[in-house]
Amino acid sequence: MLAPASTSIPFVDAAATPAQLRRFFYAAYCDTPNPLRWLSAVRPYVCPYDKLLQFVRNGGEVLDVGCGAGSLLALLAATKKIRRGVGCDVMAPPLESARAAARRLDAESILTFEHVRSVAEAPEGPFDTVAMIDVLHHVRPRDRSDVFAAAARRVKPGGVLLYKDMTARPGGRRLAHNIDDYVFTREWVEQVAEGAVETWASDHQLALVHDEFIPRLIYGHELRVFQRLEH
Ligand SMILES: C[S@@+](CC[C@H](N)C(=O)[O-])C[C@H]1O[C@@H](n2cnc3c(N)ncnc32)[C@H](O)[C@@H]1O
Repeated sequence: MLAPASTSIPFVDAAATPAQLRRFFYAAYCDTPNPLRWLSAVRPYVCPYDKLLQFVRNGGEVLDVGCGAGSLLALLAATKKIRRGVGCDVMAPPLESARAAARRLDAESILTFEHVRSVAEAPEGPFDTVAMIDVLHHVRPRDRSDVFAAAARRVKPGGVLLYKDMTARPGGRRLAHNIDDYVFTREWVEQVAEGAVETWASDHQLALVHDEFIPRLIYGHELRVFQRLEH
């Protein structure tokens, strides 16, 4: 049985602003201890979830690779955008937060979260949407093409691979990301090289349908949407 929540979960829709998303996540992650609850709440100011939603296939099935605490899937369930969502991650503790948020949102019947040793163990699908948000820069450079390939293989014909990662463009926004990750993970990450995902996507018969640089606060985001062509 769920403990009483300290506050009700505010309504959100596809037009939600980062401030509205902060209030939504703060309430939905009420079972996650601080500071992780607080970090989940402020993440929409850094990560442009509000820009990502429009690219997820309406009413479809979603695989979120490296879902962490499951924020994207929680939001997709709350906005009634998807029929089913599966999140997978190599780290188990954030998945507990993800499951607790799904319970709070009364979305346990549509959201599941799986601990995997690699994306190769994720459900095969294929899925209408496969998301990979801020994952690849945490993967060793020599393993990145394999992780991307495993995600790409799970996109069904006509479906999309929604990719977002921190910018590799030289300058202050890249440095801000390095410092941020160093503070939180003690790792000086190497961003995904410019043009790399476009090459891997093309190797897997995925066409680039949207390409956007999103500056947010002191950070820079590279959004790419790839589509698998219908046979
Ligand atoms: C910065 S977090 C992003 C979490 C989530 N996608 C989001 O946007 O909130 C990066 C996540 O990628 C996961 N990760 C790193 N390497 C991975 C891999 N090879 N396969 C799956 N997940 C991985 C980490 O465990 C972490 O949860």
